[in-house]
Amino acid sequence: MVNYQDILISWYQINKRDLPWRRTKDPYKIWLSEILLQQTRVNQGLPYYLKFVEAYPTLQSLSNAKEDDVLRLWQGLGYYSRARNMLETAKVIESNCQGTFPNSYNEIIKLKGVGEYTAAAVASFSFDEKVAVVDGNVFRVLSRLFDIDTPIDSSAGKREFKFLAEELLDRRSPAIFNQAIMEFGALQCTPKSPDCNKCVLCHMCTSNSVGTVSQRPVKSKKTKTKKRFFIYKVFSVGNDTFIQKRSGKDIWQGLYEFPLQEFGDENEQLEYIEKHKNELLYQSVEITHILSHQRISAIFLCFKHNVEIDMPPTDLLRIPRNELHLYPVSVLIDNFLKNTNDLSFLSFDENVN
Ligand code: ADE
Repeated sequence: MVNYQDILISWYQINKRDLPWRRTKDPYKIWLSEILLQQTRVNQGLPYYLKFVEAYPTLQSLSNAKEDDVLRLWQGLGYYSRARNMLETAKVIESNCQGTFPNSYNEIIKLKGVGEYTAAAVASFSFDEKVAVVDGNVFRVLSRLFDIDTPIDSSAGKREFKFLAEELLDRRSPAIFNQAIMEFGALQCTPKSPDCNKCVLCHMCTSNSVGTVSQRPVKSKKTKTKKRFFIYKVFSVGNDTFIQKRSGKDIWQGLYEFPLQEFGDENEQLEYIEKHKNELLYQSVEITHILSHQRISAIFLCFKHNVEIDMPPTDLLRIPRNELHLYPVSVLIDNFLKNTNDLSFLSFDENVN
């Protein structure tokens, strides 16, 4: 039988990136890195990992953190529920498991926010459990090596790939093998234009021999993008402004923002501006913010006067404008604040209350 394992592991030893979570067996740090890396690529995720490990070097320190501080560190990564789940999980492990991270796949998968992939990654990297990881990289490598056209987002596909990954797993060194196949997908067997001439597995790769590399892996569903139309209202009273914390089951839960009104379509959004144009000190250009399944058109309106605030006042928090940076906000709001220099242009507002 051809030995994929040895080839992948030798390739990995030569080509692997030196990443801090690969130099530890600490399940807390590995779990943290995997949650972060679900969200972003290695290059962007690395500074976040270093910031988190510095702020919260142990599970116990994270379990004592304030949600706002965790969200502030997470800012820019998106999917903020992941950060909240992480904090909740740290608290649960501290109180229910005496601070000891669970040490098997079957226990790790019970943690909130942990799916099959993350459980397999932590169990194998930290505890050398013989369980295969299947992430996007592994789907791609296997679909090409064996020229599999079963859609990876179907339940049949998930079963088939998981089975194959388990078959292929090097049982002598599951941790290294799992890292190796993922790294191979990230660096060599890339989604677009992989350099198959330089690939150590090209002679065993069915897709390479039949010419289907660019068509693998197959996905069945096209992700639908929802369009949303936002107006953020920036009110000022003296040096203060108003923000609110997002709640409810929607994006950016737990983050802060200026009072927001959402419109059903672009016409309604523009009509609102037309109706209020005499009250405006400033109107931003339309900002398009793209999330994985949403395309948001946002316009920021800074009101001239202490105009009547048409939001339930109980939701609004009055804060000095120069303290906005202390609150976790979405990248959309953060970019607006950076581009408008933290709203310093509002300071000539004559309305002191
Ligand atoms: N992506 C997800 N997990 C990873 C890891 N442990 N190393 C590199 N990239 C990854």
